Amino acid sequence: MKIDVFFDSRAPLPDLADSTVVVVDVLRATSSIVEALVNGAQGVYPAPSTEEAIKLASSLGREDTLLCGEARGLMIAGFDLGNSPLEFTVDRVAGKRLVMSTTNGTPAFFLVEDAARVLACSFMNLSAVAAEVMEADSIVIVCAGMDGLFSLDDAVCAGRLVQHIRTSAGAEIELNDAARGAVEMALTFRVNTHFLASTWMGQRLIHIGFRDDLDICAEIDRHSVVPALNNRVIQLRAPEAGP
Ligand code: MLT
Repeated sequence: MKIDVFFDSRAPLPDLADSTVVVVDVLRATSSIVEALVNGAQGVYPAPSTEEAIKLASSLGREDTLLCGEARGLMIAGFDLGNSPLEFTVDRVAGKRLVMSTTNGTPAFFLVEDAARVLACSFMNLSAVAAEVMEADSIVIVCAGMDGLFSLDDAVCAGRLVQHIRTSAGAEIELNDAARGAVEMALTFRVNTHFLASTWMGQRLIHIGFRDDLDICAEIDRHSVVPALNNRVIQLRAPEAGP
């Protein structure tokens, strides 16, 4: 097994055709996706831009579709929801299609859509994703990052995921330099609200009034679910068929 980490989704990525890709955007896209799907959203349709999100929502039909996402962290004018995981409650999202546009997280899904499988991970569903990828030969963890820059929250999440997989796998695992660095970061930082608040992105969210988001985004294994991208829709992996 081989695990490669990329600290920025806009970095040149290898051919992903035989790889399982895990997209990580702790603050906040993949945390919101997890929360929305657990709370009954039919599916999340990631969009590469605000304009594309608006077009897609009108082609899907607005009745059961919510437009959500952020620009500079704030809800986009005319949208139904922003990108705070706390907004994706059962009341708001159950049974709805969510067309989502965020600055780095949702475009990352387009950059990896040729992969054999694409999963969404945050601290909130870390162990479930680790268990899901155990059989893969090649795992590529793509951190959404922030406008082409490194994000410590994503890197630590990637590192914990690598650690988790390593602990459970019996065999030797080949890691690229970024994966080795991510593991060291995961060993250095204890994940909690205080840690997220110390990151650049955490600071920015506090500044614009989303301090409470950090509590939920720091909750390791809040949910045991695996969101997967298929035909440009992210949904919870179907449960295994019974005997
Ligand atoms: C992103 O996609 O860059 C983030 O999710 C930004 C945010 O939540 O404000």
